[in-house]
Amino acid sequence: MPGGRPGSIARGAAAKYFLPMQLPYVSAHQFPLLLAPMAGVSEPPFRQVCRRMGADVVLSEFLSSEAIRRRIRSTLEGAEFEEVERPIGIQIYGADPNAMAEAAGLITEHYRPEFIDINFGCPVKKVVQRNGGSGCLRDLDLVSRIVRAVVGATHLPVTVKARSGWSDDQRDPVGIALRMQDAGARAFTLHARTRTQMFSGTADWDEIARVAEALAIPVIGNGDVTTADDLVRMRDHTGCAGIMIGRGAFGNPWLFRDGRALLDGRAPPPPPAPAERFRVALEHARLALRLQGDSRKTVVEFRKHLGWYTRGVAGASALRQRLFQIESIAEAEGIFLEYLEPAAAVA
Ligand SMILES: Cc1cc2nc3c(=O)[nH]c(=O)nc-3n(C[C@H](O)[C@H](O)[C@H](O)COP(=O)(O)O)c2cc1C
Repeated sequence: MPGGRPGSIARGAAAKYFLPMQLPYVSAHQFPLLLAPMAGVSEPPFRQVCRRMGADVVLSEFLSSEAIRRRIRSTLEGAEFEEVERPIGIQIYGADPNAMAEAAGLITEHYRPEFIDINFGCPVKKVVQRNGGSGCLRDLDLVSRIVRAVVGATHLPVTVKARSGWSDDQRDPVGIALRMQDAGARAFTLHARTRTQMFSGTADWDEIARVAEALAIPVIGNGDVTTADDLVRMRDHTGCAGIMIGRGAFGNPWLFRDGRALLDGRAPPPPPAPAERFRVALEHARLALRLQGDSRKTVVEFRKHLGWYTRGVAGASALRQRLFQIESIAEAEGIFLEYLEPAAAVA
């Protein structure tokens, strides 16, 4: 029995060791890298940039099921995507199983993503006060009812993303994950922090390992991956079926390319030089203008990305001060050109 403990492996566990864990949707790699759902960041332009750089799967920002049900236009716009973004999951949240079911049905019918993801992770006060996001983790019976209701309302695979629990005393990632699996979730992403931790401390990768061991569905690891080395370490430490990257991708979509190389045992390409960083930043900006409208709002909201793209570049803070004041993308282009070719700008 090569590689196994004689006689000790239960049927489910054995299948897990000998058959690769399949996600419930098709993606380019056996071990997929996912761009995390991030409100205000994981919008179509950034999703497209990350897909081009090697993200295998992307997710929408979280969308309120109540707002979807009431056909609130700004929320429905959050479910829109272009074909190049597939495979994509649309993420919904809410504490009312009926509203969640109705939202899932509407998203399935009108937007046809590859899967629907339920958010039980959001720590933001406005959301948890109404028991949405991680607020649901205080009532696991409700969590089960929500997952069942959504599964019953769509033919698409339903996946779940959650934190490790509400607070340190209620930390029970394996218990939560098993509930999700029993209720019909087809994959489970764990951001291994509690709600009360918000973003402090570090994600507990041991918990991801325990959940991956306990579940028969694929478990996606999430939390604090910022380098290609981190990706390999998380895979090896946890035995997860894929990895979701959030903040590490800010201004650094190259993380997907570099991570894939290292996971495949290849040396990652050299880090992008400033000219390459600026080129991709501007490509991203043009996508934003096309997809979100050529308006001051788009430009102002894009400033944060420009700040992130210039991280680590010599003289970044002076550069950023100027970029944070731009009123048009043409201005950013001028600032980049001046940085790269100061002589040309003077001439
Ligand atoms: C700005 C921001 C917005 C986020 N919005 C969402 C969201 O809409 N849905 C969700 O499930 N998680 C959201 N998250 C959490 C991330 O998906 C991810 O779980 C978390 O950032 C940990 O991963 P990381 O360490 O790779 O960033 C958000 C995180 C950030 C920083």
